[in-house]
Amino acid sequence: MKILILNGSPRKNGTVATLLKAVAEPITNKHETEWIDVCKLDMKFCTACMACRDKGTCVLPEDDAHRVGQKIQQADALVIGTPTHWGNMCAPLKLLFDRNVPVFMGESPKGMPEPRQKGKRAVIVTACTTPWPFNFIFPESRGAIRAVKEVLHYGGYKLVGTITKPGTKKTNEISSSLMAKAERLGKKLIP
Ligand SMILES: Cc1cc2nc3c(=O)[nH]c(=O)nc-3n(C[C@H](O)[C@H](O)[C@H](O)COP(=O)(O)O)c2cc1C
Repeated sequence: MKILILNGSPRKNGTVATLLKAVAEPITNKHETEWIDVCKLDMKFCTACMACRDKGTCVLPEDDAHRVGQKIQQADALVIGTPTHWGNMCAPLKLLFDRNVPVFMGESPKGMPEPRQKGKRAVIVTACTTPWPFNFIFPESRGAIRAVKEVLHYGGYKLVGTITKPGTKKTNEISSSLMAKAERLGKKLIP
């Protein structure tokens, strides 16, 4: 199986990257995994021309958004990591998804959304400085998770779980139970 890991964090050894590595750890030797640092990609902004809805692909000159879109199509499962930025997913990841709407969903003749990655599995990882329970009471990490879930939902993915590390301003230390959860979810990516 092919598993694509999309790391939205620019921080190489940050919390999101550490948790993503923990998700990947139990599957790396048995399956084909590919890690992409989304903030290093060369991508133009979506111009909202909506032409992709009919053409099935972005009509902008080819860049990394097209290339990673193909990898998303080819992957059997996704691991998506995003730091919480303004209670949302980070900008590079959002741009990648904006540029790849037709990879995730089509539209029926009546304009109803049609999932294009139905049944594929996914895990979401996030981190934020807001401590528990305020990261959840207010839409901090909850907002980031909700935003990524929206994309996965319209793609038809089966979300096997989410991993959140709140309170990173106070401590970056990741508990052994959270690391264990990451590894558990990594294993659950494989049916
Ligand atoms: C531009 C920006 C916006 C942020 N917005 C939020 C936020 O809305 N809520 C929050 O709790 N933390 C916010 N943070 C803090 C990050 O989510 C936090 O530092 C996180 O641990 C980063 O993870 P990383 O080190 O793995 O990239 C923001 C950080 C940046 C740089």
